[in-house]
Amino acid sequence: MLVLCLCMVCASASPTQPEGHKVAAENCQYRGKHFKTSFKVEGEPVVLRCPQVRYWLGASARPHVNMTWHKNDSAPVAPGKDGPRVWVQDGALWLVPAVQGDSGTYICTVRNASYCDEMSIELRVFENTEASLPVVSYPQILTFATTGSLVCPELSEFTTNKADMKIQWYKDSVLLDEDNEKFSSVRGTARLLIHNVSAADAGSYRCALAFGRRGRRYTVTRHIQLRVNRKQEETIPVIISPHQTILASLGSTLAIPCKVFLGAGTHSTTMLWWMANNTSVDSAYQDGRVREGQRLEYSENNENYIEVPLIFDPVIRKDLTTDFKCVVHNTLSFQMLHTTVKEAASFSWGIALAPLSLLVLVLGGIWMHRRYKHRTGKAYGLTALRTGHQDFQSYPSKIKEIK
Ligand SMILES: *[C@@H]1O[C@H](CO)[C@@H](O)[C@H](O)[C@H]1NC(C)=O
Ligand SMILES: *[C@@H]1O[C@H](CO)[C@@H](O)[C@H](O)[C@H]1NC(C)=O
Ligand SMILES: *[C@@H]1O[C@H](CO)[C@@H](O)[C@H](O)[C@H]1NC(C)=O
Ligand SMILES: *[C@@H]1O[C@H](CO)[C@@H](O)[C@H](O)[C@H]1NC(C)=O
Ligand SMILES: *[C@@H]1O[C@H](CO)[C@@H](O)[C@H](O)[C@H]1NC(C)=O
Repeated sequence: MLVLCLCMVCASASPTQPEGHKVAAENCQYRGKHFKTSFKVEGEPVVLRCPQVRYWLGASARPHVNMTWHKNDSAPVAPGKDGPRVWVQDGALWLVPAVQGDSGTYICTVRNASYCDEMSIELRVFENTEASLPVVSYPQILTFATTGSLVCPELSEFTTNKADMKIQWYKDSVLLDEDNEKFSSVRGTARLLIHNVSAADAGSYRCALAFGRRGRRYTVTRHIQLRVNRKQEETIPVIISPHQTILASLGSTLAIPCKVFLGAGTHSTTMLWWMANNTSVDSAYQDGRVREGQRLEYSENNENYIEVPLIFDPVIRKDLTTDFKCVVHNTLSFQMLHTTVKEAASFSWGIALAPLSLLVLVLGGIWMHRRYKHRTGKAYGLTALRTGHQDFQSYPSKIKEIK
């Protein structure tokens, strides 16, 4: 697609060629192969649309645009409706019916008086057997316990009168009753509604449309492989972390995870984010010093969790006065949890315990002193003076002052 777009830009930027009734084939710009290969079964009508027409806006509507088709290394297909089996009509290539030998690369050439381009498209025609089903099937997905619709795809060329379009639907080759509690077809569309989709509805479907051309009747068939996805359940999320206060030392990096428990609930509809002082983290910290980390979705024992960390790089004093909040939201509930960062005093146990052990010593000393004094009366004072233990004496007095 990108290449196509680039080509288109190049094409429109290049000067137009001089006017002439015919642009030589060598001058025709090749825009490459269409990304989509067409997989069909033999015996059915097949229509190939010119892939570049959508880029040549309204080309088919212009009278001076000529679209021709040729199979790689073959002569152009004759225009008009009267070809034997293969013809070009309104710029589209019809193969009625297709045979396996039609497989190959087809090139559509679009030209007007001054411009020409080409694009190719791949067609693969398979034998009409079970074995071909995996390649010719269209995958479709519905959700468990909802009402959904199957679409019979790529029918537009065969349904000129949509009002009385009659599509028959089969599941595993059994014709479906299209008007009951389970299935109903939508008139005038290629849709089949399936009510209250269950796991049993998954599998192979086939839709068939009758199509007549030149006195012959054909059936256009599409195969659909339906997958049923589990319904996305929602539960009320529970914020299980962080704690209300987080200890951190200034200058260090810190990550506070906000962890949410969802049980069987789906990750996809649960939103989780952090706020600082009631504004988003992004706008509160435009420098990115504090930011949200990557969202983590995981399951443990069949229970779902989401985690989004708040990362401080580093923690500064201002963070101690900021109100941080983890917010979780889904269609069932809205919850939040506040947390604040507290400064953890930077200490070692030795330093922290030194005054305490001294205090114990001193108090112990006072106690001993009192006991001794009680027993020996005035004798202690004399001893103290005599030994000159000034330091020892000064401590009790200080403690007493504090008391
Ligand atoms: C388209 O091209 C064919 C073959 O070159 C030519 O016969 C026909 O007249 C062209 N039609 C138009 C509308 O130019
Ligand atoms: C056409 O066929 C030739 C030879 O088989 C091959 O080299 C060329 O790539 C084909 N062109 C396209 C557009 O597929
Ligand atoms: C031919 O097509 C090109 C591309 O769409 C357009 O720019 C040009 O005007 C057309 N010329 C004529 C004569 O219609
Ligand atoms: C949908 O189908 C389930 C069984 O698959 C059934 O239990 C439930 O009642 C049905 N719901 C409705 C609305 O019919
Ligand atoms: C949040 O508010 C507090 C008090 O009003 C203030 O001290 C702190 O700096 C604010 N934090 C931010 C990130 O603005």
